[in-house]
Amino acid sequence: MKNLKKALLAAAVASLAFSAQAAVTLKLSHNQSKDIPVHKAMQAFADKVKEYTNGEVKIRIYPNAQLGTQRESVELVQSGGLALAKSNAAELEAFEPLYSVFNQPYIFKNQDHFYDVLTSDIGEEILNASKDKGFIGITYYDAGSRSFYAGKAIKTPDDLKGMKIRVQPSPSAVKMVELLGANPTPIAFGELYTALQQGVVDGAENNESALVDNRHGEVSKFYSYDRHTMIPDVLVMSTKDWDKLTPEQQQAIKKAGRESMMLQKQLWADNTEKVIKEAKEKLGVTFVEDVDTAAFAAKVLPMHEEAAKASPQAADLIKRIKEKAPK
Ligand code: GCU
Repeated sequence: MKNLKKALLAAAVASLAFSAQAAVTLKLSHNQSKDIPVHKAMQAFADKVKEYTNGEVKIRIYPNAQLGTQRESVELVQSGGLALAKSNAAELEAFEPLYSVFNQPYIFKNQDHFYDVLTSDIGEEILNASKDKGFIGITYYDAGSRSFYAGKAIKTPDDLKGMKIRVQPSPSAVKMVELLGANPTPIAFGELYTALQQGVVDGAENNESALVDNRHGEVSKFYSYDRHTMIPDVLVMSTKDWDKLTPEQQQAIKKAGRESMMLQKQLWADNTEKVIKEAKEKLGVTFVEDVDTAAFAAKVLPMHEEAAKASPQAADLIKRIKEKAPK
C-alpha cells in the first residue's frame, strides 16, 4: 500500500514536471504595426501553433520594434535571447549569405515564379541553411516588389544620379544602388520616415505599403515602378529554442507557418490594392508607370553572375531559381 502511494505520488510529480516543461511561451519580435498583413498572418500562426500543440507552445508577438530593430532582433534570435523574429531576406543576408539569392534584382519574373521558388525545395534549403549559425527559417511572407520613391519621378537610372537612396543593410542592395548611379545609405526602417523628412536621404525603395502603412507617402510624392526586387519577409527561430521542442511540436510550427504564409498572400494582395488607392487619394502620391525597366535591368543584371561566385551552393540556387522562370 505504502509503495503504491509512493508510486502514484511519483507519477503525479513526474507528470506535473512534464507539463510545466512542455508549456512554453515564445516571444516573436517584428518592426511593423499590428494593422499590416504580416502581423495578422503571424497572429494566425500563433493561434494555430497553440491549437496544433494543444496549448503546449504559445507565441506572444511584440510589434513596432518594441524589442529592437530588425537587425537587433535577429541578433537576439541568433544568440538565443529571443525565440522568434520576422525579418526580411535583405537583412538576413548579413547573417546567412545564401539569402542574397533573393536579393538579386530581376531574378524573379513575376509573382508566380516567386511563390514557385519559395514553396519549393529551394525555399526550404535556404530556410534550413542557417541552422548552425543560430537560427532557422520557419516560413516566408510576401513583401511585394520594391521600387524607388522620392520627391521626383525616377524613370531611368540617369534620374538617380547623385541621389542619396536609403537601402536595407544588405550588401546586395548597396551594390544594386551603386550600379544604378546613386549613393546607397543603409538606415534602419524605423528611422526612415524622419530621414526622408529631414532630407538625410533623397529617396528610398520599397513596396507600396510603406507609403501608407509607414506614412512615407507623406514625404515622398512619386513612386516609380521599376520593380527591381521581390524580397520576401522571413520568420526566423532560434536554433536553441527549436532544438528544445519535440518533433511533433516542430512539425506543428512548420505546418502553422506554411498555412499563415498562404493566408498572408491573400491579405497582402488586398492590402496593396487598398494602400495604392489611399496613397493616391489621401496623400497625393503619383504612381509612375512609364519607367524604362530595361535600362535598370541592363545595369544590374551582371550582379547575378557575381552572386553566383560567392559559393557553389549560391551558384546552384541561382541556377535552379532561373530554371523555374516562366518561359
Ligand atoms: C519591407 C519589409 C520590412 C523591412 C522593410 C525595409 O517593408 O517588410 O521587414 O524592414 O522592407 O525596407 O527595411
